[in-house]
Amino acid sequence: MQRVLITSALPYINGVKHLGNLIGSMLPADVYARFLRLRGQDVLYICATDEHGTPAELAALEAGLDVADYCSQQHDLQASIYERFHLSFDHFGRSSSPQNAALTQHFCRKLSESGFIEERIVRQVYSNADQRYLPDRYIVGTCPHCGYERARGDQCESCTRVLDPLDLIAPRSALSGSCDLEERESRHLFLRQSAFAERLRAWIDDHPEWPVLVRSIAYKWLDEGLLDRCITRDLRWGVPVDREGFEGKVFYVWFDAPISYIAATREWADRAPQSRDWKRWWQAGEGVRYVQFLAKDNVPFHTVSFPCTILGSGEEWKLADYIKGFNWLTYYGGKFSTSEKRGIFMDAALDEFPADYYRYWLLANAPESDDASFTWAAFAQAINKDLADVLGNFVNRCLRFAKSRFGERVPEGGAPGKLEDELAADLERSLASYTHCLEQLQFRRALADLRSIWTLGNAYMDRAAPWATIKTDRDAAALALRTAINLMRVIAIVSEPVIPKIAKLLADTLELGTTRRGWPDPFTRGVLEALPPGHAFRAPPILVEKIDDEVVASLIERYGGAELDPL
Ligand code: MF3
Ligand code: ZN
Repeated sequence: MQRVLITSALPYINGVKHLGNLIGSMLPADVYARFLRLRGQDVLYICATDEHGTPAELAALEAGLDVADYCSQQHDLQASIYERFHLSFDHFGRSSSPQNAALTQHFCRKLSESGFIEERIVRQVYSNADQRYLPDRYIVGTCPHCGYERARGDQCESCTRVLDPLDLIAPRSALSGSCDLEERESRHLFLRQSAFAERLRAWIDDHPEWPVLVRSIAYKWLDEGLLDRCITRDLRWGVPVDREGFEGKVFYVWFDAPISYIAATREWADRAPQSRDWKRWWQAGEGVRYVQFLAKDNVPFHTVSFPCTILGSGEEWKLADYIKGFNWLTYYGGKFSTSEKRGIFMDAALDEFPADYYRYWLLANAPESDDASFTWAAFAQAINKDLADVLGNFVNRCLRFAKSRFGERVPEGGAPGKLEDELAADLERSLASYTHCLEQLQFRRALADLRSIWTLGNAYMDRAAPWATIKTDRDAAALALRTAINLMRVIAIVSEPVIPKIAKLLADTLELGTTRRGWPDPFTRGVLEALPPGHAFRAPPILVEKIDDEVVASLIERYGGAELDPL
């Protein structure tokens, strides 16, 4: 049995995430984890909050909280929202854990022993008023190239030139507005990334099966030449640098965050140390397949920076076997923005509709080969059509009719005939394709196949028409219902990775228990005979409720979007 380690990019601690964050990493990872578990594989799905860095400190300041307290609160809040979205992490950890501090320091020590770490003196801007060093983007001033007065120290938004904060004319602190800034020299650690260029290129070359998006970004970075990277900062909040002369400094957030994939696995193991072995998931040569999920802005960190940490350690840590990258989800064609509060955030989303509605829409429209745009009208249309009219309606009309004519048991009926053979053949084809797409992490295509499996239900019912045959041939009607209910069982199982709550409701309605839930092998006969005559089922629930036009109008009104895409 293959063991599969799955990680999704760690969400930043500051603020509830939006639907773009969800589809860009966590949701597809969850679908994959659920799919593999249903097929009986040994899966470990790990995620965590990314808690260090200046944005976390500033958000805590704004909330009037100590940064550690702020992070605990936000971690618990995010964890509870992910649970409500049915994200099935085996562990949702924290980059601020002691496990991560220990591992981050360990990696730095190993890199240093192998000669990949260099100390250098860096000039930095210190703000006397704020009593802290300012990261480049928290220094604003006039752009020396175009004269724009609110240029940030890392880049001018107006002329897009990359800047050094020391180039700015009349620089001031973006935090306090104070001009009382001074340049100070400070000692920092640099990771000599350039030393890994060849090994990284060979590694990417070795994986032609990865998405073009991921490979092209990786090559672009390699082609431009790898720069040595400063991996420490003059901040208080972070993993302390345990090295002489570095008292009061911490590691750069992008150095410690990916290491948290490993550290969160260790957190998971530390909860049940007798039965769990975190190293067995992370050591090369243990037969684990490691799959990462992330959005395109994260590709450089996962194809270059983190692999440098891993390779440079000289130890047998695993590199990713597959990297699934995503493009952007937009909100009415514009950027989802946490800072500008534009778009739809996960907590607000749950106030409107069940999680499965979003899961379905987001996966059906996953930004795989291109960006995708969320609009309420498209969302409502997909829910009404695919989930309510196709899936919900099939279950409802079939079970209601079966109950009224034969009671709450699978009816007996005769042997399968031509219609049933055709249904089985269609199901075999769609199921094989669906399974294949999930294996290949082709979510949009997988969802099209899933939809086609749902569609088979209604098409079969229309052709078999038990409400007509029952008048003359009770056995024929019973056969149709028995077959349809068996198709429903398959649907309940294979829909679970995508819409777990609805799928569970359906499985419970069909009293599937624990034994009839394995992933159906598309090529096995009898897939449509698993529930025998006499098997009890329950009254059909309302699986999906439609979304009215007035509701759509009100959503646009409340969340914005009308100005971009009038109804
Ligand atoms: N917090 C980062 C983001 O949202 C992702 C960190 S992924 C890790 O872009 F690999 F660094 F952990
Ligand atoms: Zn400029």
